[in-house]
Amino acid sequence: MRVVLLGPPGAGKGTQAKRLEASRGIRQLSTGDLLRSAVDEGTALGRKAASYMDAGRLVPDEVMLGLIRDVLPTGAYRDGFLLDGFPRTVEQARGLDRLLDEAGAGLDAVLSLEIPDGELIRRLGNRRSCEACGEPYNLESRPPQADGVCDRCGGRLVQRDDDRPETVQRRLEVYHEQTEPVKAYYADRGLLTSVDGGRSVDAVGGDLERALRHPGE
Ligand code: AP5
Repeated sequence: MRVVLLGPPGAGKGTQAKRLEASRGIRQLSTGDLLRSAVDEGTALGRKAASYMDAGRLVPDEVMLGLIRDVLPTGAYRDGFLLDGFPRTVEQARGLDRLLDEAGAGLDAVLSLEIPDGELIRRLGNRRSCEACGEPYNLESRPPQADGVCDRCGGRLVQRDDDRPETVQRRLEVYHEQTEPVKAYYADRGLLTSVDGGRSVDAVGGDLERALRHPGE
């Protein structure tokens, strides 16, 4: 399947994408993860993206569309993908459509996680992830068994730089201004299903699974 997962910062896109990858074998493609790897490796893309990410702003559309154009056609995503964090503007959504049209393969579903800002701020403040394997944790809703240590691989748990309170506020503003209009773009095309993301990981995951069985309902 070819799926887009939309939602504000901290809505649980990464958590649910990994869950769907495990349960349905739909490969996650997270543009945030790609950009963070590029920053860590000090590539030209990473050097360009870092200042935008640190400020909680979006990396320019032409950079993101170039990245997706390079990555999406590779063999890893030939049998389908779940886009996590892309598209984030209507211009990116149009660019994705152009790319998929060229490949003769449209989207099957667009899922949107809905959740109030107050809950997002709490989740992001408590988020930690393993610097070795990327496993996500939350000090409130999914704490590790031992403080600061990944249950899965024993790696160190770290906080993302852009989860500082002032940057979170800016990311939420950017979401409401630039990414929310993407929902209408896909609703007009009959592809959008909205899911209440403010419940347990399992409850949200169950709804997403159902939505994928009956896309657009
Ligand atoms: P990106 O990495 O995509 O960040 P984001 O969209 O802000 O989303 P997050 O990763 O913060 O949250 P999430 O929804 O994945 O939630 P998670 O599952 O971790 O982008 C980062 C930056 O890169 C952007 O700001 C931008 O600069 C740049 N960028 C990326 N893509 C771009 C694009 N297309 N265009 C331009 N720029 C781009 O969950 C959050 C926490 O909550 C965790 O602790 C988790 O354990 C917990 N949690 C999850 N679900 C639940 C639940 N149901 N109940 C309780 N807790 C839960």
